[in-house]
Amino acid sequence: MKFKRILLKISGEAMMGDKGYGVDPATVDFIAREIKDAVSMGIQVAIVIGGGNIFRGVEASVQGMERASADYMGMLATVINALALQNSLEKLGVPTRVQSAIEMKELAEPYIRRKAIRHLEKGRTVIFAAGTGNPYFTTDTAASLRAMEIGADVIMKATKVDGVYSSDPMKDPKAKKYDSITYLDVLKKGLSIMDSTAISLCMDNDLPIMVFNLKGKGNIRKIVEGKKVGTLVRGNNGARTKKKNK
Ligand code: GTP
Repeated sequence: MKFKRILLKISGEAMMGDKGYGVDPATVDFIAREIKDAVSMGIQVAIVIGGGNIFRGVEASVQGMERASADYMGMLATVINALALQNSLEKLGVPTRVQSAIEMKELAEPYIRRKAIRHLEKGRTVIFAAGTGNPYFTTDTAASLRAMEIGADVIMKATKVDGVYSSDPMKDPKAKKYDSITYLDVLKKGLSIMDSTAISLCMDNDLPIMVFNLKGKGNIRKIVEGKKVGTLVRGNNGARTKKKNK
């Protein structure tokens, strides 16, 4: 097995299927089945989920809402998605814990790093909700941060395309897909995989990012098995060198 502990980053939009808004139960069920498949292989799975299917803080702030308030609303949206995914996972028999970066004890555990690690060791899937709990940070940055904190082997960043391309493959038929690319190239070329804060955090801590298409059935399993799926974003030496933060 190539990876033992993964941090899966799912965007809010991935939860809405073709509905254009909100949570599509059939789509969430598909995602839950993909996760269950990885869990059944003995992989420890942690998840950070976005909220863009319900509320996008950045867009609201462009339209005049105060940025911090808009971001807090976006964080609440991620909690709704986390509960929806937990429900689908538990229906499939996958034990799951939701931990929220903003305390709301009645519906989720508070985020406690050591407890999250313990859950993972016990085979429970942990969903991190409410981003980092701070405005001005994206859920991509939350994914990088949590991945580092729990000592994940990789961030698996789910997207609509099957990897990183030299240009937009939807618009440019000559776009070339990379099998792997360095963090610096992603930043220099301005490739919009994750925001620059998230990429820099991964670069500084040598945490690889696997960009892949979540809609492809069995993709999570294939990546974990080391098959050629998606694009690996990594440092020059291609391996994680720093000691894991246990
Ligand atoms: P172990 O201590 O390893 O057995 O983990 P556990 O999560 O099974 O035990 P715990 O007694 O901490 O939690 C039992 C249930 O309560 C789980 O479903 C937790 O997610 C939930 N739980 C724990 N703490 C909180 C909390 O602060 N708020 C909410 N809403 N649920 C919590």
